[in-house]
Amino acid sequence: MTLTRLCVLAFLVICTEAVTRPGVAPLVQLNDGREIPNLGLGTWLGFNKAGAPEPVVDDKVQHAVEAAIDAGYRHIDTAAIYETEEQVGIAIQNKIAEGVVAREDLFITSKLWNDRHAKKDVVPALKESLARLNLTYLDLYLIHWPIAQYENGTYYDTDYVETWKGMIDAQVLGLARSIGVSNFNRTQLDRLLTMTTVKPAVLQIEVNLNLQQPQMIKFCKEHGIAVVGYTPFGSLFHNRAAPNAPPPRTDNQTLLKISDKYHKTIAQVNLRYLIELGVIPIPKSVTPKRIGENIEVFDFQLTQRERDLMRAFDKNYRTIPVTMWEDSPYYPFHKK
Ligand SMILES: NC(=O)c1ccc[n+]([C@@H]2O[C@H](COP(=O)([O-])OP(=O)(O)OC[C@H]3O[C@@H](n4cnc5c(N)ncnc54)[C@H](OP(=O)(O)O)[C@@H]3O)[C@@H](O)[C@H]2O)c1
Ligand SMILES: *[C@@H]1O[C@H](CO)[C@@H](O)[C@H](O)[C@H]1NC(C)=O
Ligand SMILES: *[C@@H]1O[C@H](CO)[C@@H](O)[C@H](O)[C@H]1NC(C)=O
Ligand SMILES: *[C@@H]1O[C@H](CO)[C@@H](O)[C@H](O)[C@H]1NC(C)=O
Ligand SMILES: *[C@@H]1O[C@H](CO)[C@@H](O)[C@H](O)[C@H]1NC(C)=O
Repeated sequence: MTLTRLCVLAFLVICTEAVTRPGVAPLVQLNDGREIPNLGLGTWLGFNKAGAPEPVVDDKVQHAVEAAIDAGYRHIDTAAIYETEEQVGIAIQNKIAEGVVAREDLFITSKLWNDRHAKKDVVPALKESLARLNLTYLDLYLIHWPIAQYENGTYYDTDYVETWKGMIDAQVLGLARSIGVSNFNRTQLDRLLTMTTVKPAVLQIEVNLNLQQPQMIKFCKEHGIAVVGYTPFGSLFHNRAAPNAPPPRTDNQTLLKISDKYHKTIAQVNLRYLIELGVIPIPKSVTPKRIGENIEVFDFQLTQRERDLMRAFDKNYRTIPVTMWEDSPYYPFHKK
């Protein structure tokens, strides 16, 4: 090959790379030596207008996960209770078969539901998730809530510290490379830290403009626990905001000015802000265009003044307060 042809080839490779290079989320170090991508795809279909869980009726989650992997996502968040594990699994197998990714490129999270909190139930529940996902291991397994509740709604008194010991068993067996918790408050995390030998690698909690969680983020930073932020858009979109939800929405002038300046959407500015708080957001979308948009947030940076403006939206307002569980002895939030 002549030098000229080599140069042309190199130029073409660089150009194609620049134009088609998908979003790439940098890796964040976990306290167990592993790494997690700084943004992931959420796969919970959420509540419908009547407040009931949106039924999983078609294969839109599978297509969303496929679109996400094509767009550069390597981190997917699911849970036994979402009933989307099968679809996540099919998408992963399809993308591996197409040669787009290998299993070890992906970071897959699932969660233990409230009715399997007995220590002896954790490993069997995890194996059921793995079977639905058609995987041999998870990258991260979380206790979904500190609350122990049978399927029929009755609470039972299994302490989440016992559950955590079952999680440690799962990690020792290699079924979950990292283990963590979700929706635990500070006191509950403290109990795990003082009563067991393995620190959670991750705390997954709600973080968005209305609920910025400065104390929890600081506490986790001090203890080397990574914070994954769920419901990252909170009440930003008009169609998703409860009537009493504090501002902002997507028509807020402060946000519009920032988004104009960087040629980014409000959704992207919002996600970027969460990342700069030190959070790993897991935005959910089943819309390919939005899936692509949500990961294109690693090529700009907000100024301190912009961050200060956005900090002012923190109203300690919870989008998912699960008030129906307030009478559980392990309810983690302030009661209404
Ligand atoms: N640990 C827990 O207890 C817990 C609780 C809640 C959630 N989670 C996890 O966190 C994930 C995310 O939270 P979430 O699903 O509650 O809410 P979210 O990600 O804050 O919001 C999802 C909504 O935003 C829309 N959307 C996404 N990107 C958009 C964009 N760029 N522009 C406009 N609209 C956009 C989606 O619409 P379309 O899908 O129609 O595009 C969907 O209606 C969940 O899927 C789940 O994996 C965990
Ligand atoms: C599970 O994945 C394997 C490839 O690793 C594939 O051959 C098999 O068909 C999948 N099983 C199901 C039930 O999808
Ligand atoms: C709820 O389910 C548990 C476990 O299966 C059972 O022990 C309990 O009696 C049930 N309670 C009610 C009120 O049905
Ligand atoms: C937009 O955000 C600013 C804070 O930066 C706030 O003062 C204002 O009330 C918000 N506007 C609306 C319409 O919510
Ligand atoms: C944390 O949860 C426990 C229940 O396990 C509750 O007693 C405590 O008040 C909660 N702490 C905070 C700070 O909300």
